[in-house]
Amino acid sequence: MTTSDLQKITDNAIASLKSVSSTEEAEEWRVAWIGRNGKLTDILRSIGKIPKEERRSIGMLANQTKSLLEESLNSHLESIKVSEQDVSSTKTTLDVTLPGRNLPSGGLHPVTKIVRMISNIFKNMGFEITEGPEIELDKYNFEMLNIPQGHPARDMWNTLWIDYVNDDGNYPMLLRTHTSPMQARHMESTKPPIRVLVPGKCYRYEATDATHEWHFQQIEGLVVDKGITFANLKGTLYEFARLVFGEERKIRFRCDYFPFVEPGVDMSIDCFICNGQGCRICSDSGWIEIMGAGMVHPNVLEGVGYDSNIYSGFAFGMGPERIAMLKYGIDDIRHFYSNDLRFLKQFSQTYS
Ligand code: FA5
Repeated sequence: MTTSDLQKITDNAIASLKSVSSTEEAEEWRVAWIGRNGKLTDILRSIGKIPKEERRSIGMLANQTKSLLEESLNSHLESIKVSEQDVSSTKTTLDVTLPGRNLPSGGLHPVTKIVRMISNIFKNMGFEITEGPEIELDKYNFEMLNIPQGHPARDMWNTLWIDYVNDDGNYPMLLRTHTSPMQARHMESTKPPIRVLVPGKCYRYEATDATHEWHFQQIEGLVVDKGITFANLKGTLYEFARLVFGEERKIRFRCDYFPFVEPGVDMSIDCFICNGQGCRICSDSGWIEIMGAGMVHPNVLEGVGYDSNIYSGFAFGMGPERIAMLKYGIDDIRHFYSNDLRFLKQFSQTYS
């Protein structure tokens, strides 16, 4: 017996320990290598036969080898026990006959539902849907909509400006006050015929009340082609209102001023709370305004390079929160964004 024989035995023992995967196999391994008649025990027994001068060093090495194998076995056994416990705990806790647990499921926000419903109505009329930036340039939010710097009509939109000033002292960027900038952007990047719907968020420096939020959604619509008239505008919006509110709801068009349309109108629905009698929600008017609309102003068409003698169009911009209020009978727009789950859960039944 030499030290290299002992090293070989150690290597073989450690290599075979790696394939041991159960406590039973570990016990077999222990008996085979360090048990009473194990290979290493045989060597320890035969040490007496080794010449005296080598006996001491080989004896020491054999004892060290035995300790090493015992330690290796113990740590291997630990890891086997841990994985056996894992398996048995899964076995005991998984009862496939138990009824499944209900996972809490979310739902769509009521305004998202309304936006999708309106988008589908217009999609069925042949409109495409697109989106635009919420941080907008003055150029698109105002200038290309026939509202140049210093025009008094800018006061119609209480604007939140981005804190960045141009060399000329003007603020070039803002949080868009309406979705109308997408009229100019879309016309610039495409050619008539156009039938497009643009839902998205808008922001205004606005005192909130039952029908006004400082951030809200709008849905912009734009149609441009040869021979588009006010009759097309009325027909499209009446059909929209019929599909959303039903036949019995009253609709009113009134002249209104928006610099980017001519003529301009606002469209209102009779108040759902007081049935047109006048109350807090409708500011005693009996009507709730849901959108502005009109025929696209020739200056806007010319501004994007369209010949206004050939092309005409109509545009509208509506507030889906106001439409959700009318449809669901909600008396304050601020409920939508106060994150009160008691309110929101009433709309979470379906995903569509
Ligand atoms: C506009 O913003 C125009 N861009 C609409 C337009 C588009 C006119 C195309 C002509 C052609 P107005 O500021 O009225 O117009 O807003 C349009 C709609 O957005 C309103 O009828 C209302 O439904 C909604 N809205 C406006 N301000 C608020 C607000 N503070 N909170 C909630 N909804 C609002």
